[in-house]
Amino acid sequence: MSPVRSRSPAPFHANYPDLNGTSVYRHRENDFELEGALGGAVDNNTLSGHIKDSGRAQSWNQTRAAARFRIDYPVVQGPMGGIATQRLTAAVSNGGGLGSFGAHGLSPSAIQEVIAEIRSLTTKPFAINLWVSMEDAGARTSGPVEFARSLAPLAEHIRALGGTLPRYEPYKPIRFEEQARVVIDANVPVFSFIYGIPPREILDECRKRNIVTVGSATTPDEAVALEQAGVDVIVASGFESGGHRGSFLRPAEESLVGIFALLPQIVDAVSVPVVAAGGVADARGLLAAFALGAEGVQIGTAFLATEQSGASRLHREAILSGKARQTGLTKGFTGRLARGIQNQLLTELSRPGVEVLPYPLQRMPVRNLTRVAEPAGRAELLPLWAGQSASLARQNDAAALLQALVSDVSAIAGPVLDWSRRRGGQ
Ligand SMILES: Cc1cc2nc3c(=O)[nH]c(=O)nc-3n(C[C@H](O)[C@H](O)[C@H](O)COP(=O)(O)O)c2cc1C
Repeated sequence: MSPVRSRSPAPFHANYPDLNGTSVYRHRENDFELEGALGGAVDNNTLSGHIKDSGRAQSWNQTRAAARFRIDYPVVQGPMGGIATQRLTAAVSNGGGLGSFGAHGLSPSAIQEVIAEIRSLTTKPFAINLWVSMEDAGARTSGPVEFARSLAPLAEHIRALGGTLPRYEPYKPIRFEEQARVVIDANVPVFSFIYGIPPREILDECRKRNIVTVGSATTPDEAVALEQAGVDVIVASGFESGGHRGSFLRPAEESLVGIFALLPQIVDAVSVPVVAAGGVADARGLLAAFALGAEGVQIGTAFLATEQSGASRLHREAILSGKARQTGLTKGFTGRLARGIQNQLLTELSRPGVEVLPYPLQRMPVRNLTRVAEPAGRAELLPLWAGQSASLARQNDAAALLQALVSDVSAIAGPVLDWSRRRGGQ
């Protein structure tokens, strides 16, 4: 078997530009058994079997994004700040995807420790994710009076659950630049970010050190801005996604685009590889995203439900129970617009007139309620982050989730690939 393929037809697109003018798609010894892609047997037992090169099959997994990340399958476990674990990141990377760790809430020294621990669990590429913008207007001037007003709707619940009300504490900012310094000094394989574009010096240094950069766009304009700044890979973040809307050119409320509309517009607007995020939870979603031009998918909610994630048992059960069909967007959990399961807390904090502190201050009162609601088993009073595809989540093990995805996509990708190739006249 030849280690490097000759020029391969691109999956789902007529012509991808090569990265280096020769061949983009590398066919590694340890790749997945792909006979099944066009009707043969799929090896379900391992994610690192061998591709049997029938000479016909175009591997769905051999995209520019996979090549940039140096991973076997272009499946990114979405970074999940606050709920990230080193185990989850390593489980996905060890399975051939890209595990990510959302580190925006951590101090630089804690980030250093996290990176060391991930490296003790995997030798494969992984991503560390930060937020470029770490606070909203008013965070530095907000005081005890505003704090008391935002605590008011939560105070009754905290008291009823036997908790003590938190006292106002002055805000201690965490600076993106200091966090980024640690990430760069550690030479992480992939540095991803949302809520903006890092300063040019940071991107230049990443390029010099071969750190792959990934930016997140909620609109085509944001994608163009990221590409113009020299970012290597762009995540198209549809508004179906769980967690925060990382918009940075216009307010999040004015940047709510679904992935079906967003993805092809971003793919048409930029030439770097695009990874689709939002609503993808199984093979159908991945193939749909690839048909719209994605070269990878980023999945958050379905990984959130697995036992390796840092989500509480109540949170994971809420996703896997099939009762998470209704989600909503609120600023009430943190001060920034984010998606979670539509429960009592989300409803109460989204009511008109309820005072919400600027990001990140609103996290504090909500965290105090979480501390007492979680041991009391009161899921309706927890911020249950989740995307619109929550009810599609099935797996409680991250490696099994990735394996099922790879196996299912390999089994059904063939006809779509054939169609795509015929359409492209290849
Ligand atoms: C709990 C939670 C926290 C998240 N935190 C981050 C984060 O810190 N940084 C980031 O880039 N994306 C974050 N995301 C977005 C995910 O990485 C991913 O893009 C998104 O979940 C994909 O959509 P899905 O939820 O429909 O799978 C978060 C998502 C969730 C559910």
